[in-house]
Amino acid sequence: MDALEAIRKRRSVRRYKPTPVSAEIIEKLIDAGRWAPSAMNVQPWEFIAVTDPETRKRIADITDYGKFIAEAPLCIAVLCRDTKYYLEDGCAAVENILIAATALGLGTCWVAGDKKRYADEIRKLLGAPSGYKLVALIAAGYPDEGERRRERRDLKEILHYERF
Ligand SMILES: Cc1cc2nc3c(=O)[nH]c(=O)nc-3n(C[C@H](O)[C@H](O)[C@H](O)COP(=O)(O)O)c2cc1C
Repeated sequence: MDALEAIRKRRSVRRYKPTPVSAEIIEKLIDAGRWAPSAMNVQPWEFIAVTDPETRKRIADITDYGKFIAEAPLCIAVLCRDTKYYLEDGCAAVENILIAATALGLGTCWVAGDKKRYADEIRKLLGAPSGYKLVALIAAGYPDEGERRRERRDLKEILHYERF
């Protein structure tokens, strides 16, 4: 699958088969994340791959709209050192992981971290030091749901040449 196809195919998946995600695949996902651009190449990110069902359940309970993390075989917490561009850098890594996961046949869902009231609670739960920000949680696993229809604003509506 080429990059454009993976970008088009990616969708948020919230129901997963119980099939575990292998360590080899987890490494490929994090490898994709670390090749994201970052301001001044600071690479402020750290990735925590959580497979333990009890920890996933605790994370799921803390989130507002990430209850399905309890059922996803893998949850990747993306944390960044609190640098000037931590959010942009972290989000670039998250998107790389989502696209790579699609290319590897996995479904994912980005679950909000930064700005959420629970961000610091999850950071502490996962043993990350203070000075780190939870950018996002990524639920991942083999999809157990059909393709949903997705809406996107029309290209003609959003593409401007030269001026807004
Ligand atoms: C910053 C951000 C936060 C998100 N947080 C959640 C979330 O907490 N729970 C959830 O189910 N989906 C979350 N999503 C996924 C969006 O709902 C989803 O990407 C959007 O509806 C478009 O659907 P698609 O991903 O299938 O194209 C989040 C996405 C982004 C980019």
